[in-house]
Amino acid sequence: MATSSALPATSREWHLVARPNGWPVPSDFALRETPVAEPASGHILVRNLFMSVDPYMRGRMNDTKSYVPPFQLDQPMQGGAVGEVVASNDERFAVGDHVLHPLGWREYADVDAKHATKVDGGLAPLSAYLGVLGMPGLTAYAGLLEVASFKEGDAVFVSGAAGAVGSQVGQIARLKGASRVIGSAGSDEKVKWLVEELGFDAAFNYKNGPVLEQLRAAAPDGIDVYFDNVGGEHLEAAISTLNVHGRATICGMIAAYNDTEPTPGPRNMAMIIGKRLQLKGVLVGDHYGMQQQFTGEVAGWLASGELKYNETVVEGIENGVDAFLGMLRGQNTGKMVVSLGK
Ligand SMILES: NC(=O)c1ccc[n+]([C@@H]2O[C@H](COP(=O)([O-])OP(=O)(O)OC[C@H]3O[C@@H](n4cnc5c(N)ncnc54)[C@H](OP(=O)(O)O)[C@@H]3O)[C@@H](O)[C@H]2O)c1
Repeated sequence: MATSSALPATSREWHLVARPNGWPVPSDFALRETPVAEPASGHILVRNLFMSVDPYMRGRMNDTKSYVPPFQLDQPMQGGAVGEVVASNDERFAVGDHVLHPLGWREYADVDAKHATKVDGGLAPLSAYLGVLGMPGLTAYAGLLEVASFKEGDAVFVSGAAGAVGSQVGQIARLKGASRVIGSAGSDEKVKWLVEELGFDAAFNYKNGPVLEQLRAAAPDGIDVYFDNVGGEHLEAAISTLNVHGRATICGMIAAYNDTEPTPGPRNMAMIIGKRLQLKGVLVGDHYGMQQQFTGEVAGWLASGELKYNETVVEGIENGVDAFLGMLRGQNTGKMVVSLGK
């Protein structure tokens, strides 16, 4: 067993203490202290440097059957994190290594080494492995190129366009030869960023008027691909605007994540028939086979400056829940991450 120096006696971690009904409230969570122990055989102890807050975590707060199990009450929540190995009881990892692993929401994580992946802080900032080079990035890449079968010349519309996934979808579409890239986001500032910094051809603030009207104005010749991060009014508007043989990747429906009643479906589903549309769900976990291709291509675009990314960084484990709730409310531009200290 190798350890860096004296380990701390305790670590703080966020527990879910009540299941939210609708919007989560601070009293649904508690920041608790827990003892830190040396890692058992095959485990490593990681000091987390960055942890991710992601929309799918809202679903894990409900006690319902889904593709990931619900968070357990009075247990630490989980999620992507990057940190430094401070004690290792596994020959594959040395003290000082940086790793990506699934035990965020805590300062120190006892990680089964088979669930940790080494990451190189020299190639990209460590937080990038939670965003542009991580799970949201792969979602964007696979969701556009594989699930929507994007091809050169397609006109692409993406909702949630100023978020982690959406900002990457639009840029990948541009880099791969889209005829037009359109995005929607929740503030005029985000819209400006999409057009002036990321090279979107058009963007609109969905809070400024009906989505359908704004989308039609931005896409006078219709769209061939819709990448849905939002659902609801956006999905209905996209179905109306998709051209014949259009494709939609259904990636997320964040507009409904805090609803307490079932969401009404789009009222124009019959258009799917006449226009021979394809709407297809994506789960990033099905696409890890593309990881190497994704990393290679995205790292190249980052190095050349052709692909840009932004992170909204909230400091301190004590602000983890605020960061999560802020992300659900749209306080992030690009990926929302929590920094746990240097
Ligand atoms: N299927 C998969 O495997 C997979 C993997 C990763 C993510 N996702 C999904 O992809 C979507 C984006 O995830 P992300 O990690 O990139 O998050 P994100 O877009 O970085 O952050 C969430 C954003 O959602 C927007 N939003 C919140 N409420 C909204 C509403 N009512 N209408 C429209 N926009 C709203 C906010 O931006 P505004 O200011 O623009 O409102 C907020 O910044 C989510 O739906 C997520 O569940 C799916």
